[in-house]
Amino acid sequence: MARVTNSSADSAFVRACRGQDVPHTPVWFMRQAGRSLPEYRKIREGVGMLESCRRPDLVTEITLQPVRRHGVDAAIFFSDIVVPLAAAGVDLDIVAGTGPVVAAPIRTRADVERLRPLEPGAVSYVSEAVRLLLPELGATPLIGFAGAPFTLASYLVEGGPSRTYLKTKAMMYGDPALWHELCSRLADITLAFLRVQVEAGVSAVQLFDSWAGALSEADYREYVLPHSARVLSSLEGAGVPRIHFGVGTAVLLRAMGEAGADVVGVDWRTPLGTAAGIVGPDRSLQGNLDPAVLFAPWEVVEREARRILAEGRAARGHVFNLGHGVMPETDPDVLTRLVDLVHKESASS
Ligand code: CP3
Repeated sequence: MARVTNSSADSAFVRACRGQDVPHTPVWFMRQAGRSLPEYRKIREGVGMLESCRRPDLVTEITLQPVRRHGVDAAIFFSDIVVPLAAAGVDLDIVAGTGPVVAAPIRTRADVERLRPLEPGAVSYVSEAVRLLLPELGATPLIGFAGAPFTLASYLVEGGPSRTYLKTKAMMYGDPALWHELCSRLADITLAFLRVQVEAGVSAVQLFDSWAGALSEADYREYVLPHSARVLSSLEGAGVPRIHFGVGTAVLLRAMGEAGADVVGVDWRTPLGTAAGIVGPDRSLQGNLDPAVLFAPWEVVEREARRILAEGRAARGHVFNLGHGVMPETDPDVLTRLVDLVHKESASS
């Protein structure tokens, strides 16, 4: 068993991302900082979502809340995938219960050409919050993140959340040159946002392509992969593991790995043993408990967590997580118990 020293680069989380041996399977939860926690709801009272992302004091406190409460192996920086778009000048808001809403959706060449690059100075509150967080976190690694071009484009083109991505796909198929121009500009923004976080000292980055599962593998490879690959490959020398995640991506796992990920995030639909065979021996996996299982009796949570730990052994390395974000109605005590179970179960086997 490996000895782990008191530094985030040698933490169980970073080691599992790199496929090194670990004292226990590391665990964190997508959307661990947020509405499942009463202390989050309290601190957010009367403060808009975007405003809270721009206040380093709030970002620091909210990022730390799940680390203190659950003892997770990593913190995720409190922000949102649309924060860099707003900082680049897009008029948008995050509406509670709905998600991002864009005032003037991007549909034409003129709209795309109005999309400006992200000046790092426009998100100085991000660097400031990371600086405040690092000493508080000590050896617990901090994960930075951004939205991938397809998922960001879906909000900008639709104007808000969508089930069908009809307008997004209409641009993609109908005017590929315009689509690639949009995604290229979004890749620049995403890369600039991730660089700000890496330079400020995050230990890993996660690229969220949450809605890429709407595409076939062929279309993903043609219209999306080149842009996500540019983001991920540009960070290759940065020295931090790169996690690439989407929902409903069973047919895309190989391509999402090839885009330049050290870790591929898997939703609950694909068993980790199957996913390990698809991504191959050079990448770790993250996932993949169905967030809805947390609403079942504890015996079911326990059984599912054990199954996932066993399946995860087929991968080069395994970071335990949910298959998507924590639902707001989740009992936080179940999350705390789950962290404990993952640690004990994986350390004793
Ligand atoms: O704990 C964490 O994971 C860190 C914070 C985080 C947020 N958004 C905060 C947030 C992260 C990593 C995100 C990423 C994000 N945002 C994604 C990718 C992850 C995923 O779920 O697939 C996407 C697609 C978005 C866009 C977005 N922002 C949605 C769909 C929503 C939810 C709408 C709602 O209210 O149900 C948001 C709002 C949002 N982002 C909230 C939080 C805590 C809820 C708003 C609030 O608390 O007022």
